[in-house]
Amino acid sequence: MSLLEGLLDTATTFVDAKSGYVVWATLLIATVLSAILLVRQRSGGLPQGSHDFIHNYKFPVESQPNWSQHYSPEDDVDVPSKPSIHNPNRPDLIHCYCPATGQYLGRVPASTKEDIDTAVRKCQNAQGVWQKTSFEDRKVVLRLLLEFLKKNQDEVVRIACRDSGKTMVDAALGEIMVTLEKLAWTLKYGERALRPSSRPGPANLLIRYKTAEVVYEPLGVVLAIVSWNYPLHNILNPIIASIFTGNGIIVKCSESVVWSSRYFVEMVQTCIGICGHSPDLVQLVCPWPSEADYLTAHAGISHATFIGSKPVAHKVLSAAGSVLTPVTVELGGKDAAIVLDEYLPSWQACDGIASVLMRGTFQSAGQNCIGIERIICEPKAYESLVKVLTKRVPQLRLGSSLDDHDKDIDVGALINDSRFDVLERLIADAAKTGATLVCGGKRYSHPEHALGSYFQPTLLVDVTPEMEIAKNEIFGPVMVLMKAENTDDAIDMANSAKFGLGGAVFGKRGSAATEKVVREMKTGNIAVNDFATFYVCQLPFGGVNESGYGKFGGEEGLRGLCNAKSICRDRFPGISTSIPPVVDYPLQNVNKAWKFVRAMNAAAYAASVKEFAISLGQLLSNMK
Ligand SMILES: *[C@@H]1O[C@H](CO)[C@@H](O)[C@H](O)[C@H]1NC(C)=O
Ligand SMILES: *[C@@H]1O[C@H](CO)[C@@H](O)[C@H](O)[C@H]1NC(C)=O
Ligand SMILES: *[C@@H]1O[C@H](CO)[C@@H](O)[C@H](O)[C@H]1NC(C)=O
Repeated sequence: MSLLEGLLDTATTFVDAKSGYVVWATLLIATVLSAILLVRQRSGGLPQGSHDFIHNYKFPVESQPNWSQHYSPEDDVDVPSKPSIHNPNRPDLIHCYCPATGQYLGRVPASTKEDIDTAVRKCQNAQGVWQKTSFEDRKVVLRLLLEFLKKNQDEVVRIACRDSGKTMVDAALGEIMVTLEKLAWTLKYGERALRPSSRPGPANLLIRYKTAEVVYEPLGVVLAIVSWNYPLHNILNPIIASIFTGNGIIVKCSESVVWSSRYFVEMVQTCIGICGHSPDLVQLVCPWPSEADYLTAHAGISHATFIGSKPVAHKVLSAAGSVLTPVTVELGGKDAAIVLDEYLPSWQACDGIASVLMRGTFQSAGQNCIGIERIICEPKAYESLVKVLTKRVPQLRLGSSLDDHDKDIDVGALINDSRFDVLERLIADAAKTGATLVCGGKRYSHPEHALGSYFQPTLLVDVTPEMEIAKNEIFGPVMVLMKAENTDDAIDMANSAKFGLGGAVFGKRGSAATEKVVREMKTGNIAVNDFATFYVCQLPFGGVNESGYGKFGGEEGLRGLCNAKSICRDRFPGISTSIPPVVDYPLQNVNKAWKFVRAMNAAAYAASVKEFAISLGQLLSNMK
């Protein structure tokens, strides 16, 4: 029964038949009014041109279903015959491929130093105007973007799939849902997070006449260097936070997804333009790694967010350090999901938790920084889960969900095959040293997509903490099960990795063991009886140790893109600081001045009335 039906039911019980009509009519009118209000609030105030933007946007043909390569490598000597973003003959171009099929998508000129200068300059100019807009103005842009994404889910998702090889279902969750949530949350709570914040001011009694306030001002032009695993979300997420805080943003996408990144940034620019602002506010650049330092060390950039790997982070940080640009760093993870025996009273039926663990591991073919990389179970849970997963993981089907219409595809391709050797070796080494390989473990040559980059969904059980596979980030479709003796053992295992990004614990709601894991797991984020939901909940997101530092997301993320300007004012009219003559330059009597200041400190921080009275006496007697 819905809430409305319940209300109606209650209402009719309490009135007789005659006045019943009045109640019904009143309720009906109230319902219609609130529905209108809700819709107006949600979609209200979209500018002219929005309808056309939402309903008639031109999407690229390559992402249409059944698109087939219209370009053969033989047509042009510049195109490498094997999928590779790089061609030594034309180092100025980035070549784009669909990882699921190997189809050639086109090429994009790599950004040069001049391109970077131009992008920063344009962004600075646009930001100078944008920073003066109201939150209401900024919300119109976000609202339109939200409507656009919601109405064009199919097309937008297909662009992301074409460029990353993931499945449409994975993209609808990991690209669209999280982005819509970010937009909706920012619209609803963003302004609150950026409101001027009044602080208690000094504890010192003698300067209580001062007030303290913090206001959040835009920094200027910020930079986001983002990874390829969620081509839409990873770009939109920093754009939403940056423009809402009044900043301009330069996005540096990965060479592996520059094809789709261009379309996504164009969509945002079009949206900003329709709302009457300069589309230059958002800029996309994609230099080769050799030019990336030029970007990070650019004097026009006030803040950088980096999502990527540790070796690259060192380069980014030293370049940013040369101009003192602060950086928020999000690196890899080795997230553990700890499953306690207490979670299910009987471990006979554990299909539900197996489903969550599989989604957590195989979502985006495991290319998820907060994907589950290790499942650590207490003994009963271990035994039951191994049984269920042994049945379910081998059923996963690989393919291209854009092209294999007649088939149900569970897991998509990996971004490319460059790490397949490493994955195969880590799995083989684990199997050699005592782990059991239930299924998978090798690259997969797809019968219909010979050039696709597929890796078999893998289940590896009896893994121990000493094995390399338990220590290194896999970032692929590999499920790893480890058996712990008890809760403490499970926590030790989880904390044995050098990463500390996310984590999960499955236990009884509020139990001592569950809360112990929550407290003692050394990570930046943790989900209870779920995986990765802390991300969707718009909390500050970031890791500890080798997973990086600093937080983006949530209120802290918005404020992190601001200059928190501290303002101190006088509390009362007519009362302000005046320098007592005894400490006025040039000092007349150093001895007296010293006694005065010493008495002032003692009075201000006195522990008792007596102490205060004595100090005050000394203060007054040395005042002149
Ligand atoms: C794509 O091709 C398949 C099989 O050839 C066909 O069944 C399907 O209708 C086509 N889809 C579109 C959108 O053209
Ligand atoms: C594979 O993808 C990674 C991540 O984007 C990239 O660094 C690497 O250059 C790519 N390799 C090839 C051969 O495309
Ligand atoms: C980081 O992780 C490593 C490996 O577990 C550990 O030895 C080290 O103490 C951790 N560092 C900090 C600062 O926690």
